[in-house]
Amino acid sequence: MSDGRPHRLSAAYPALALLFAAACGQRDSGNGAPPLWDPSAWTPAQIQQLESGRRLYAHKCAACHLTSGQGQVALGAPALRGSAVATGPVALHIGIVLNGRGNGAMPAFAGALDTRSIADIINYERNAWGNSEPRLITAQQVEAIKNR
Ligand code: HEC
Repeated sequence: MSDGRPHRLSAAYPALALLFAAACGQRDSGNGAPPLWDPSAWTPAQIQQLESGRRLYAHKCAACHLTSGQGQVALGAPALRGSAVATGPVALHIGIVLNGRGNGAMPAFAGALDTRSIADIINYERNAWGNSEPRLITAQQVEAIKNR
């Protein structure tokens, strides 16, 4: 009986360590993003949209373009930080995210994400990593280009 205890304890340690690491990781990713939205520049509703975009970007885009927006040369995924598309005319930007590019190297998201989510991601890209486009786009703008 007394033999069993140390075994059970030592088995619990890795699980506890993992839980602890997961909790810390979550807190880090909340605090780690660059400018985190200045409440004197954005309304609470806008901050919600940008945060939604940040989460969606992390899940759907960062594998290729990285959370830092630097892109990955090996994948042919360009930097979005400072990119002509992510800082230029919005219709082109929306079109690329909806329809993809480079024969699927950049996947099409029109069927995978609703227009609200696509607007949130695009607004995030255009206001992360030093990109700055304070006029946020709407789901209706994405819808209009999708139906074109
Ligand atoms: C599987 C890898 C991959 C994923 C995932 C991905 N992309 Fe891309 N993306 C690419 C590649 C590769 C290109 C370059 C395509 C080309 O021009 O031929 C690209 C190009 C772009 C461009 C054009 C940038 C420029 O300056 O030319 C934008 C904007 C973009 N992606 C946004 C996104 C967004 C937003 C998401 C998530 C919703 C996303 N990408 C997910 C691989 C990816």
